[in-house]
Amino acid sequence: MMSGEEEAPTPQQEPEQVKKTDEPPPAAAAEEEEEEKLAKLASGSGSPAAAEEEKPITYRALVLTGYGGCDKIKLQVKSMKKASLKAGEVLVRVKACGLNFAELLGKQGLYELLPAPPVTLGMEGSGVIEAVAEDVTDRKVGDRVMAMNRHGMWQELAVVPANRTFPIPDGMSFEEAAALPINYMTAYMMLFEMANLRPGKSVLIHMAAGGVGIAATQLCQTVKDVTIFGTASASKHETISQGGVTHPIDYRTKDYVTEIRKISPKGVDIVLDPLGGSDTQKGFGLLKPLGMLIVFGAANCVTGQKKNLLAMAKTWYNQLTLNTLKLMQTNKAISGFHLGYIRDEELFEETLVKLLELYQQGKIKPHIDSCYHFEEVADAMKRMHDRQNIGKVILLPEPKKSEEKPESNAEAAENLEKAETAVSEKKEDAAEEKELKEEN
Ligand SMILES: NC(=O)c1ccc[n+]([C@@H]2O[C@H](COP(=O)([O-])OP(=O)(O)OC[C@H]3O[C@@H](n4cnc5c(N)ncnc54)[C@H](OP(=O)(O)O)[C@@H]3O)[C@@H](O)[C@H]2O)c1
Repeated sequence: MMSGEEEAPTPQQEPEQVKKTDEPPPAAAAEEEEEEKLAKLASGSGSPAAAEEEKPITYRALVLTGYGGCDKIKLQVKSMKKASLKAGEVLVRVKACGLNFAELLGKQGLYELLPAPPVTLGMEGSGVIEAVAEDVTDRKVGDRVMAMNRHGMWQELAVVPANRTFPIPDGMSFEEAAALPINYMTAYMMLFEMANLRPGKSVLIHMAAGGVGIAATQLCQTVKDVTIFGTASASKHETISQGGVTHPIDYRTKDYVTEIRKISPKGVDIVLDPLGGSDTQKGFGLLKPLGMLIVFGAANCVTGQKKNLLAMAKTWYNQLTLNTLKLMQTNKAISGFHLGYIRDEELFEETLVKLLELYQQGKIKPHIDSCYHFEEVADAMKRMHDRQNIGKVILLPEPKKSEEKPESNAEAAENLEKAETAVSEKKEDAAEEKELKEEN
C-alpha cells in the first residue's frame, strides 16, 4: 500500500456514492466506466482460483481533481474486485509514462480532448500486457508494449484498445518506449506527411529542446542537407547543436526573425509552430514562397502553473487571420495538425512501424530528460513549466524507494515543508468534499 502521499478517499474511490447522484457528469461517467472495466478483471467465478481472484486489486493513479496548479493532481489508490475486458481491449501493467505539454494545458482546463475532472491523466506509456480480451489475437500476456490513450495512462494498471498498443523492440527501455509515440508521431506526420520534407530544405523548429523539438530535429536529419533553425533557452544550445540543430537561437533574449534573416535573408521552407498568437504571424512572414507553416499548439497561452486569461486573450487576439486570396498571392501554405483528432488506426500503426525501423537503424532515439516517480509529479510538471527540460520528462508508477530520498539538511527541510503543505491541502480538500456532499 501507499505511504504518506495516499489521499483521503475521494468520490472517485467511492463509485457507489457517485452512482447515487441523478446524472453524473460525462467525465465522471467515463471514469466510472473505466473503473468498472478494471474492476471486472479478476473474474473467473466458479474456477478453483475464484476466491483468490475475488480479492480486490489495488493500483495507484494520478488523478486531476480540478483545474489549477500542480496541487490539483492527486495520487490516489483505486481498487477493483472483479473483471472482464471489452472486445478489443488489453490490460497493461504500466512501467513508465510520458509527460506531454498537453497535460500542462489540461491541468488548466485548456485541453479540449481531456474530460472534465476527476480524470486520470496521461496519454502515453509503456509496460507489460497483463490480460487480453478474448478476441485479441495479435497481443498476448507478457508482451512489452508502448501504448497511447486519450487519457488514463498515468496509472499502474491501464485498459487500452489493443490497436493502440505497439510492441517494444528489443533493446528499447520502458522509458524510451514511453517517450516515443506522441512526440515522434507528431513530428513525423508533420514533416513527412504534411510538409513533404525534401533534401536541401530549411526548417524552423520552436521549442527545439523539448520532446517534439528533439524528435523533429532527429527526423530532419534523416533527409540530406536540411538546415535547422531551432529556438530554445540559451542553456540548452550546446545539447541541441550536438543533436543536429544548425542554428540555435535564444528566443528569450533575441528576436528570432532578425536572427534567421541574417543567416537566410529569403526565410525558411517549413515552420513548425507550437506557440500560436504573434509567433504564427512571424512564422508565416518567415516562409519562403512555396513554404509551409504548420500550426500545432498554443504554448503561448501558458505562462505559469495556473490559467492566465490575459495570455490567452493576447494569443487569441494576435493569431494569424487571412483569407485564401492572400494565401494565393503569397504562394504559401498553412496547415494545422493535431494528433488527438486523428482517428485512423492504420495511419498510427504505419507511422509507428516506420519510426521503429528508424529507431532500430539508430537514426532516432528519444532523449530522456528526467524520470520522476508518481509521488513527484508536481516536480516533473514544474520542470516543464519552468522551461528546464531537455527532451522528455518521464513518470514512473513504481513507488519511490526510501534510499532514493535526498539526505541533505536543506532537502530534508524542503521535504518537511512539502509534507506540511500536503497535509494542509488534504484538509482543505476534505473540507471542500464535505461541503460538496452536504450540498448534494
Ligand atoms: N498538435 C499535436 O498533435 C501536438 C502533439 C504533441 C505536442 N504538441 C505541442 O508541441 C509543443 C511541444 O510539446 P512537448 O510535449 O514536446 O513539450 P516540450 O517541448 O518538452 O515543452 C517544454 C519546453 O517548451 C519550451 N516552452 C516554450 N513556451 C513555453 C511555455 N509557455 N511554458 C513552458 N515551456 C515553454 C521550454 O523550452 P525552451 O525555453 O528551451 O524553448 C520548455 O522547456 C506544445 O505546444 C504541445 O502542445 C502538439
